[in-house]
Amino acid sequence: MADTIVDLRSDTVTRPTAGMREAMATAEVGDDVYGEDPTVNALEAEVAALFGHEAALFAPSGSMANQIALQLLVAPGNELLCDADAHVVTYEIGAAAVYGGISSRTWPAIGADVDPETVAQMIRPDGYFAVPTRAIAVEQTHNRGGGGVIPLATLRELRQVADDAGVALHCDGARIWHAHVADGVPLIEYGRLFDTLSVCLSKGLGAPVGSLVVGSAEKIGQARLIRKRMGGGMRQAGILAAAGRYALANHIDRLSEDHARAARLAEVVAPFGVLATAVRTNLVPLDLTKHALDAPALAAAARAEGVLISVLGPRTARLVTHLGLDDAGVTRAAAVLARLLAA
Ligand SMILES: Cc1ncc(COP(=O)(O)O)c(C=O)c1O
Repeated sequence: MADTIVDLRSDTVTRPTAGMREAMATAEVGDDVYGEDPTVNALEAEVAALFGHEAALFAPSGSMANQIALQLLVAPGNELLCDADAHVVTYEIGAAAVYGGISSRTWPAIGADVDPETVAQMIRPDGYFAVPTRAIAVEQTHNRGGGGVIPLATLRELRQVADDAGVALHCDGARIWHAHVADGVPLIEYGRLFDTLSVCLSKGLGAPVGSLVVGSAEKIGQARLIRKRMGGGMRQAGILAAAGRYALANHIDRLSEDHARAARLAEVVAPFGVLATAVRTNLVPLDLTKHALDAPALAAAARAEGVLISVLGPRTARLVTHLGLDDAGVTRAAAVLARLLAA
């Protein structure tokens, strides 16, 4: 039965491949809280180098990696700016406020688009009774923004805005690999634009667990303490880091297959007027505002035919392609969705 299911809910539903499991089973490990896990140390060094930074820190989740970075950049009672749909203010359960005492202010989200001028105008300097802005966060690719990619030129303008104001720039790069593959921008080009990045090995790259915070040696030293405080110190984590190293070596280039399959799904649903935005990467956002079926009804009908999709709101749904799919499954899902949307 499981083999007949096509799971388009998220790119986090992947399972480790045989090669990845082999790498995990044979990983050299040690106690990482003592800094003695050679596989974790190797992963951290590799990821830091990929982004042209001095250091990186392995964390159990993207949310924890983001929140460690935000605590590095914004002291309690100070302010973070990001868009209103950003993962850090939408899905991290108020963590910036709860753990970091951070005040967040948002600009309206328009897909993945960012207007550096709008952001510049929001920045509040130190001053009499105004909450000072300390950091700006952007998301690459943008999850609720339908997998949209922020162009390199826009990110460079934002860097200039941050420099002019003396504030830090953070990238929630859970799917930065997808942006790299879609736009052909080297990871190191992205890396040098940000003070900190969080990157995930468990979104589309197929690792079961794991994210990293990337930054300067000094920041990552502090990050290690914040991670421990948040309960994220792990012991023989090399078993997980081995999965991440395998994912980096084997699963980045193949993301173009996921993008092509997402484009095929987008092509099939577009004639029904339900495509929310143009598809750039592996996410296909659906806007069912004008359709007879709402999101839960479409999801239930698709589920009955072995196709799983995500419901993000009453009229918003999402299809996601990933490592766990093949062409036959995507073709079947496309046929099911086309039939349901045509009814
Ligand atoms: C853009 C983005 N950032 C951060 C995260 C958080 O990752 P995790 O679920 O590992 O906490 C996600 C999860 O899907 C995400 O899409």
